[in-house]
Amino acid sequence: MFLNTKNHQIQGSQRAQQKRWQIEYLVNPKQLLEIGFSDGSDVVQSLKRTPKSIPMHYRYDDRGSQLFEQICDVPEYYLTRTETAILQECASEIVLMTGACELVELGSGNAVKTRILLDAYQQLGSLMRYLPIDISAGILESSGLALLDDYPSLQIQGLVSTFEMGLLQLAPSSLPTRMICFIGSTLGGLNRQESDVLLTQVATALQPGEYFLLGLDLHKSKHLLEAAYNDSQGVNAQFNFNILHHLNQKFQGNFDATKFDHRVFYNESLQQMQIYLQSLQKQTIQLDSLELNIELELDELILTALARKFELNSIQQKLQSFGLRSLQIWTDPNQWYGLLLSQRQ
Ligand SMILES: C[S@@+](CC[C@H](N)C(=O)[O-])C[C@H]1O[C@@H](n2cnc3c(N)ncnc32)[C@H](O)[C@@H]1O
Repeated sequence: MFLNTKNHQIQGSQRAQQKRWQIEYLVNPKQLLEIGFSDGSDVVQSLKRTPKSIPMHYRYDDRGSQLFEQICDVPEYYLTRTETAILQECASEIVLMTGACELVELGSGNAVKTRILLDAYQQLGSLMRYLPIDISAGILESSGLALLDDYPSLQIQGLVSTFEMGLLQLAPSSLPTRMICFIGSTLGGLNRQESDVLLTQVATALQPGEYFLLGLDLHKSKHLLEAAYNDSQGVNAQFNFNILHHLNQKFQGNFDATKFDHRVFYNESLQQMQIYLQSLQKQTIQLDSLELNIELELDELILTALARKFELNSIQQKLQSFGLRSLQIWTDPNQWYGLLLSQRQ
C-alpha cells in the first residue's frame, strides 16, 4: 500500500506530460514509526553497540546527495568515471540482449549514468517505463523531472523509499520484460547479510527470464582505494561529517563536526573500505528526540560506512545462488570495475 501519493504540477507543461510523472513517498514519518524505520531506533541500536556505528542511509539527505555528486568528480574517485566508460561501451549490447520494457533502478541518485542506458533504449529498444527508487526525495524529484523533459515517450514512477520497502512494494510488471538495475557499486555499502536480503528481494521481484544489471567496484590496491575515499580536496570528509548534521537535524542532536576527524581504512582480508568518524576528544553527545546520551572516548571510532569490493568469480557464484544466472560481464582495461548482467532462472 502506498502511504502518500503526489502528482507533481509541472509548470507550463501539458496534461499528457503530467500523466507520465508520478512519485510515491513511502518514507512518511508518521507511518514509518509504525514499521520501525527511520524513527531513530536504528541509530539508537547502532550507537549503543560496541564498536559504535551509524546506519549508512543517513549519509543521504539532500546535502549528502549533493556532496556525493561532488565526490564523483574528484580526481581520486575513479569509480564513476570507470563505470561511465563501461556503460558507454556496452549500453547498446545491454539493450539488444534484454529488450526490457521496464527499468527499475535501486538508488538512482542523479541518474546521470542511467541516461546512457536510456539513450540506448531510446535509439534501439522498447523501454516504456522507468521506476527509480531512492531514499533521498530531493534528488529523486529533480532527476525524475529532468528525465521527463529529455525522454518524451518515457513514463516515470519514482519511489522515495528504502531499497527493501521499495522492492516489497513493487507489483509484478504489466509490461513484458523488467530489468532491475543497481549500479554505482551501491551494493558494496550493504553488509553481507543486508546484501543477501536485497538479492533475495531482487530475485523475487523478477519473473523467470527477466534481468538484473549490477555495477560493482572490484578489489584492487589499498593505496588506490584509500585515496578514492579520502580525496585531497576533502569532499569525502565533508560527506562523512554531513551525517552528523543530518542526525542533529533529524533527532535534535548536538554533534559538533569540528570535534571529529574523517578516517578511512581498507581491510584487505575482508575486502572492504571502512569509513569512520574519529572523536578528537572525550565528549558526550545528546540526541534529544531519541532520549539518547552517548559517551565518546578520545580517538574512539564510529563506523559510518562500508564499501565492499568484489571479485568477479565470487559475485557470479553469489548471484547464481539467488537464481540469477550470469549472462555477460563488462569491465575496463585495468579491471577496476565490473558490470554484470544476469538473468532470473
Ligand atoms: C552511491 S550512490 C549511487 C547513485 C547512482 N546510482 C550512481 O551510480 O551515481 C547511492 C544512492 O542510493 C541511495 N540510497 C542509499 N541507501 C539507500 C537505501 N537504504 N534505500 C534507498 N536508497 C538508498 C542514495 O540516496 C544514493 O542516491
